[in-house]
Amino acid sequence: MTKLILIFAAQILLLVAVATAGDGASFARTMNQKHHGIHQKEKLTHLHFYWHDSTKGRNPSSVMIQQPILNSTLFGSITMTDDPLTTDEPRNSTVVGQAQGIYAGAAQREVGFLMVLNFAFKIGKYNGSTITVLGRNTVFSKVREMPVVGGSGMFRFASGYVEVQTKLFDSKTGEATVEYNCYVLHY
Ligand SMILES: *[C@@H]1O[C@H](CO)[C@@H](O)[C@H](O)[C@H]1NC(C)=O
Ligand SMILES: *[C@@H]1O[C@H](CO)[C@@H](O)[C@H](O)[C@H]1NC(C)=O
Ligand SMILES: *[C@@H]1O[C@H](CO)[C@@H](O)[C@H](O)[C@H]1NC(C)=O
Repeated sequence: MTKLILIFAAQILLLVAVATAGDGASFARTMNQKHHGIHQKEKLTHLHFYWHDSTKGRNPSSVMIQQPILNSTLFGSITMTDDPLTTDEPRNSTVVGQAQGIYAGAAQREVGFLMVLNFAFKIGKYNGSTITVLGRNTVFSKVREMPVVGGSGMFRFASGYVEVQTKLFDSKTGEATVEYNCYVLHY
């Protein structure tokens, strides 16, 4: 009798084990932070560069892929960009990377863009690393702040913010230069 109960209990245990495994118990696990270098102290890096957008001319770096439904505020428009980022204000200064992404007119009563940008850096130790910005950009405000929501490579686990200021805007040539101060916490 005792033997039977023991066998029965063992079978129940086995069933529970199988059910747990089938439940996706191995789907997520807690890891030692040392394996990802995040036991180290976080670093705060300041990146300073200029973003050059051009929508017209022979070699535009952005293209509007969806026209606005309100021309006054560009609400509803979607623009895809692959804009150079440079060390200094002149367009022909050293390129440090590209701003690849989308800005979309998200405000009806002012010009306010939803920015979804990956900064793909290509110089020095940051070559191949990226920073992702997702935020609200009311382009006629003097200073705009947007969150850094992540990164890759050197910027894994990144968080932080950018402060941006328009340096040049010419609606005739479709050119704009915007200064970016980027503050990023990463390991
Ligand atoms: C916006 O302006 C363009 C070019 O002037 C025009 O073709 C288009 O119809 C306008 N769209 C709206 C919604 O007013
Ligand atoms: C950049 O362009 C300016 C004029 O637009 C020119 O004076 C300067 O020499 C150029 N610099 C380089 C590094 O090409
Ligand atoms: C950046 O990395 C790419 C791909 O690994 C390489 O082809 C390129 O030469 C590198 N650029 C610099 C400036 O190190």
